[in-house]
Amino acid sequence: MTTPNRFSDIASAIRAELASVTRLAHVRTFHPNAFDWSEASTPSELAFLSEVVYGELDHETQAVAYVTKELAQLAEIERHVSAVIALTIGELHDLPDPVNVGHDLHHALSCFAAEEIQHANTFYRYVRMLAGSEARVDKALFNERFDVFRTDDHPYVKLVALCCSAYVGESVITIFEHRADALDPHRARFFTRLLHTHGLDEARHIKIDHVAMKSLYPALTIRQQSRVRQLVRQIEELNRRLAQSFQQTTELLLGVDFVTDNPAAAVQLQLTRTFAERIFTEDGALHTADEVLDAELRGLISAFSGVDNVHGPDTPTLSAALPGMLMGTQ
Ligand SMILES: [Fe+2]
Ligand SMILES: [Fe+2]
Repeated sequence: MTTPNRFSDIASAIRAELASVTRLAHVRTFHPNAFDWSEASTPSELAFLSEVVYGELDHETQAVAYVTKELAQLAEIERHVSAVIALTIGELHDLPDPVNVGHDLHHALSCFAAEEIQHANTFYRYVRMLAGSEARVDKALFNERFDVFRTDDHPYVKLVALCCSAYVGESVITIFEHRADALDPHRARFFTRLLHTHGLDEARHIKIDHVAMKSLYPALTIRQQSRVRQLVRQIEELNRRLAQSFQQTTELLLGVDFVTDNPAAAVQLQLTRTFAERIFTEDGALHTADEVLDAELRGLISAFSGVDNVHGPDTPTLSAALPGMLMGTQ
């Protein structure tokens, strides 16, 4: 059982961090109405997608299929993140806990959930325009993915697991955002602006993930930490099934192989696997994407995106600055 004391040493620092992260959430954000959607799938846009995905022109059809699959799948994961955060906010409602007093946690989570549902809205609209029709996966595995979190675990267990499961994908799309920026530094292309504006919100989500990973997680009991890892494994397995379903459905819908000899897909797969292996170690510690970079991974990211880090050098060290952190015993 988590007691209020378990969080008392870190609560004020967490609340201050969350308040700082969300301070400009009303400014550094976007709404899908603000895009000029008539620009989304012009011939020059499709040529740019070919460049982003294949590094050269004349792969427009495959690039459209790949982006359609990836962003529809991402939208589905974002919709699920939003729903699970809403569930967690409900469970936090009457939790007497020093992190959960006042408005800071409630506000940060509410912004996170609201932003993700709009991302799903935005990305679905984008891929409908690109593909001309919609890839449909049977009920999007939503019930199974939601049921993973319909447990009697402490809401922080769910929150940390959810943040961890979203974190790898958020880190990988950040690297794609860097690539689009490198190829289109003036953000003339719709796709670059789409990833950039999404990234305004994602930068906050990453910081909230880091709070969950670096501050909340170490303060959980050993048993709760184990439950976090179990939930992460369960949701990752379902997300893999979701990815396979989206791949098959998109291939059928668009009639094109967008995996064979697709350099961006190869980089994406390598980054996803490596981050997943290194971030969620079994030794009880969680690591940020930038903490797990070695020379090889840094070289891969740099060659792909022109940037040799993922979220920037200022990854938070909140937990390091917090003396007296309680490591759980039971
Ligand atoms: Fe998002
Ligand atoms: Fe996000």
